Amino acid sequence: MAILELKNIVKQFADYTAVDGVSLSIEQGEFFTLLGPSGCGKTTLLRMIAGFENPDSGQIILEGNDIQNLPPEKRPLHTVFQSYALFPHMTVRDNIAFPLKMAKLSPKDIIERVNQQIDSVQLNKFAERYPHELSGGQRQRVAIARSLVNRPKLLLLDEPLSALDARLREHMHVELVKMQEQSGVTFIYVTHDQSEALALSSRIAVMNHGIVEQLGAPREIYSYPKSYYVADFIGKCNLLNATVIEVLPSQYRIKVEDSFEILISNEGVEAKLGQEGWFAIRPEKIKANWDARTDEDVANFKSKVKGLYYYGDGTLYEFYMPNGRVIQCMLANSRAEQASFFNDGDEVYVTINPLAGSFLVN
Ligand SMILES: Nc1ncnc2c1ncn2[C@@H]1O[C@H](COP(=O)(O)OP(=O)(O)OP(=O)(O)O)[C@@H](O)[C@H]1O
Ligand SMILES: [Mg+2]
Repeated sequence: MAILELKNIVKQFADYTAVDGVSLSIEQGEFFTLLGPSGCGKTTLLRMIAGFENPDSGQIILEGNDIQNLPPEKRPLHTVFQSYALFPHMTVRDNIAFPLKMAKLSPKDIIERVNQQIDSVQLNKFAERYPHELSGGQRQRVAIARSLVNRPKLLLLDEPLSALDARLREHMHVELVKMQEQSGVTFIYVTHDQSEALALSSRIAVMNHGIVEQLGAPREIYSYPKSYYVADFIGKCNLLNATVIEVLPSQYRIKVEDSFEILISNEGVEAKLGQEGWFAIRPEKIKANWDARTDEDVANFKSKVKGLYYYGDGTLYEFYMPNGRVIQCMLANSRAEQASFFNDGDEVYVTINPLAGSFLVN
């Protein structure tokens, strides 16, 4: 059974629809992420789950019960915000003990639970420090430890790492996954950072203007985006104009930018001969060589290097297609001495394997 079910949730502010009919089913123990750009309704959805806002219509069902009439403090969940609201005049230990004191546990139980919690998030060294004596990442770990100490059914996290620098954020990704696994608590995580969502989540709901555009495991969302919006929002993606020129039993042959033909799978794509749409292909799925390849069904065209961008682990090349538009290709700099394969103006052959990309019609 799902731990949390959202059924057709709608929320309007005056005449603006912030959440426009969201239905989701979240399983016990998931690390579930709401991902989308600023203003798409992530925080509004989280605030309705927490009970700080009421939906205009729809149902929120926790473990089979409609929680519509439960006030926020009665809901068996906690929220962690971007700004860690620790009590500045209390040590880490006292901060973590606070929710247990409020719940009137016995002093013996409190000491035991707090020690357990401090151990499990490895805060032993910091237990007697005050919040101002901790780094931002450490403070956020304390805030999460405090939220987990009375074993909520759900932990809601609204961009909890956005105040931290990039390195600390990456370190915290590892910590967050550990805390989630150790506690077994279901996490609902909000972020606008696609790489964070891909790295942390068991499943991701990609949101756009108050609706869920696509729901799936990180690998599905990245490899099989179902719309232009998702392909464009998640990672780097070439999105090229394309037309269906042949309908085969399980594939379509499409013509891309009047420049090359390629086979794509027809799974989940309804299209007729002549249908127009986009060919979506990730830069790392494209190859380039000095010589043409002649294998059957491999798209292969002569090109010139327009430019290149060195990223360290790889180099992103821009190649001209025969119609003058540009396609991007990411090649790993895998050999020790290698900084790039090609230079500006080099003439090369670009190749794309059949089924390496997908065809999007909306
Ligand atoms: N109390 C409110 N009154 C009026 N409009 C609101 C209110 N709260 C949110 N909105 C609007 O609803 C939309 C969704 O806001 P929300 O805070 O849910 O976005 P978000 O996805 O969390 O964005 P961000 O990534 O910037 O935090 C926005 O256009 C916002 O301006
Ligand atoms: Mg927000």
